[in-house]
Amino acid sequence: MRMVDLIISKKRGQALSKDEINFIIERYMAGEIPDYQMSAFLMAVCFRGMNRDETAALTMALVNSGEKIDLSPIEGIKVDKHSSGGVGDKLSLVIVPLCASVGIPVAKMSGRGLGHTGGTVDKLESIKGFRTEMSREEFISNVNKSGMALVGQSANLTPADKKLYALRDVTGTVDSIPLIAASIMSKKIAAGADRIVLDVKAGSGAFMKTVEEAEELANVMVGIGNSLGKKTVALVTDMSQPLGREVGNANEVREAIEILQGMGMEDVTTIALTVAAHMAVLGEAFAEFDSAYEGLLDAIKSGRALSKFRELVTLQGGDASVVDNPDLLPRAARHIDVMAPQDGYVFSIDAEKIGVAAMLLGAGRKTKEDSIDHSAGITLHAKTGKKVSRGDVLLTLHTNVSDWSEAEKLALEAYVISPEKPAPITYIHKVIG
Ligand code: URA
Repeated sequence: MRMVDLIISKKRGQALSKDEINFIIERYMAGEIPDYQMSAFLMAVCFRGMNRDETAALTMALVNSGEKIDLSPIEGIKVDKHSSGGVGDKLSLVIVPLCASVGIPVAKMSGRGLGHTGGTVDKLESIKGFRTEMSREEFISNVNKSGMALVGQSANLTPADKKLYALRDVTGTVDSIPLIAASIMSKKIAAGADRIVLDVKAGSGAFMKTVEEAEELANVMVGIGNSLGKKTVALVTDMSQPLGREVGNANEVREAIEILQGMGMEDVTTIALTVAAHMAVLGEAFAEFDSAYEGLLDAIKSGRALSKFRELVTLQGGDASVVDNPDLLPRAARHIDVMAPQDGYVFSIDAEKIGVAAMLLGAGRKTKEDSIDHSAGITLHAKTGKKVSRGDVLLTLHTNVSDWSEAEKLALEAYVISPEKPAPITYIHKVIG
């Protein structure tokens, strides 16, 4: 087998066999296939695509490049969730204790934020003492003991995906549905859960800007999961504006606590409950979606879900007093209100611009090596559909930097204010699987 022949086959739109795909990934990882050949191959995939069998074979080749987490010592059906990433997405902070409170074990590995999107691990680290690294034994033991653990992704998981992603990033080959689907699903499969719920975001703050694109990606990922024996459900959810009210690490922990107290905003609460309800059905804690949704709502109203969050923080070494007194979370030195320049309705809020503005305030990383300021972020006082008058506060910037002018400009640009009232936002666009 020669790489050049496989590149030519893909360039001509031919399907590759499992052996050919394994050859490509194994030889690339062994350093025998150079980046220039891999780049040509990736570009051919971008133009010619991959069928379902090829995409599943690529997923498994990525999984087999590294460690596979064995969750079999954990009792019960392990259900994982994945979000394709967005702005203000604090859902894992809510869903992990919420699912654990109804008896579904969640052994969750999460990432750090990069660019305009945040990461669950960074958010949790805004709680003093919270450990996101632990031994495999402690991870398993915590899930068996309390039904949950939330840690950073193991460094040895899917190394081929890491190497390929870095190459895709600099060769204009990120936006290919089979490549994205294989990349995401390989990490989920290597992480060892039995069943998977995917939250595929659609809109200005997401990878997929339209519902149609997000649906296509969701369909491919559900196909991969099911064909590899992991029952998978995907939701296409709204990311046309930031999720909830808070963006930034400590800010989002504060908002997650409010949601678990039953005082969250409607959009983020509805999406959190919907994702968790699908996990609860897949985990066989409930027979069907409606009773799962009600059961989870009851876990919030009764305070059980919040108690589980307190337990999670304590178990992982964090200062649990923040749960009852969120003012103990890091606070920025400066709080700058940004006002509406005119009367009208908030017609739309570009989530990506808000995400980039939060990053400029210190909440995110421009490069992987950057450190972050847990106290920095943005509070949105007006969301899409709200009527505002000139001079009303649209949002507050929280920061320790001395020059916030670029962030302020970007945050204001994110808001479109119009005399026309926008159509109401649909939170859940599609359920697939
Ligand atoms: N997220 C991933 O993990 N991989 C991709 O290719 C795109 C988004």
